[in-house]
Amino acid sequence: MTETSPNEASQNETNIAPVLDHPNPRGVRRVAVLTSGGDAPGMNAAIRAVVRTATHHGIEVVGVRRGFSGLHRGDMRLIGARDVANIIQRGGTILLTARSHTWRTPEGRARGAQYLRDWGVDGLIVIGGDGSFHGGHFLQQEHGIPVVGLPGTIDNDLYGTDHTIGYFTAVETALDAVDKLRDTGASHERIFVIEVMGRHAGHIALDVAVAGGAEEVFIPEDPKPVDGIVEIVQESVSKGKASSIIIVAEGFPGGALGVAQAIEAGTGLETRVSILGHIQRGGTPVSSDRVLASRLGEAAVYALMDGHSDVMVGRQNGEIGFTPLPETWEKRKDVNRDLYRCAKTLSV
Ligand code: F6P
Repeated sequence: MTETSPNEASQNETNIAPVLDHPNPRGVRRVAVLTSGGDAPGMNAAIRAVVRTATHHGIEVVGVRRGFSGLHRGDMRLIGARDVANIIQRGGTILLTARSHTWRTPEGRARGAQYLRDWGVDGLIVIGGDGSFHGGHFLQQEHGIPVVGLPGTIDNDLYGTDHTIGYFTAVETALDAVDKLRDTGASHERIFVIEVMGRHAGHIALDVAVAGGAEEVFIPEDPKPVDGIVEIVQESVSKGKASSIIIVAEGFPGGALGVAQAIEAGTGLETRVSILGHIQRGGTPVSSDRVLASRLGEAAVYALMDGHSDVMVGRQNGEIGFTPLPETWEKRKDVNRDLYRCAKTLSV
């Protein structure tokens, strides 16, 4: 990143001639970008897309480090096209991320807004999940600074976009682990209960269950009693299945441990629990996440140029669309119920 003060505004080293293939009626000259909340593979691809799109149109970009936590401390630098070279394939976020408590106070937000004004920023792009979008929404409401959200979370739990940046990679990572656990589970004729991430949502769990050929899946969207699993496992055994894979979303009441206890108490069968945890947040983003991040990053800059604010840019049925930030967390994005049914059908 280029070390620059607010007063050295136009010294951005990426003085590439502006291209006028997208109108800029509001005369946006400078935007800021930050990543916030839990990281997700593809965030770097999104940052790159924001910086490259802005540079393409002669707009400068201020990179805010450590999310809102860095914003209210003024931890900001100008970043140019060369600063985002060679990051499209990297997991994590070069801007770093954090969950900020200070941002939850009006004073914290006022300080952040003042830094944005000092830097002459015309709009802020927030890459994150629902907590980050709350932060962006309040900033816009209280200080009138245009804010556009980019859905960056492995949980895929934001209304207004078919998928979130990082989701596809998280599913692949979890699936790879499930395949490996199946090998050892089969060798030992054990039951494996595997917990995947998803604090409030079962999207990862459901995809992984279907793709991993699981016998059962537990998701927060269907908080059914766990004792039903005893019958399912007993039935599997009677059909000749020596080992079973059960997928549990982190947000399901009792988690994987609760399900495993029910199985052991009800069947006496040897059961192991594997909680995959934060490994699902790391790693090289798969192509679907890189493409989604690139497309949405470009669209976020255009959204600010077009005068949109307090919205998330998402992709629905292949088309770019805008959803008011509050709707992204107020409306619930349900899991695919057909897929849920399919998971049951295929576990026969
Ligand atoms: O990014 C979302 C998420 O992965 C949730 O599924 C999980 O509960 C949470 O983050 C854990 O985040 P942290 O440990 O960073 O607070």
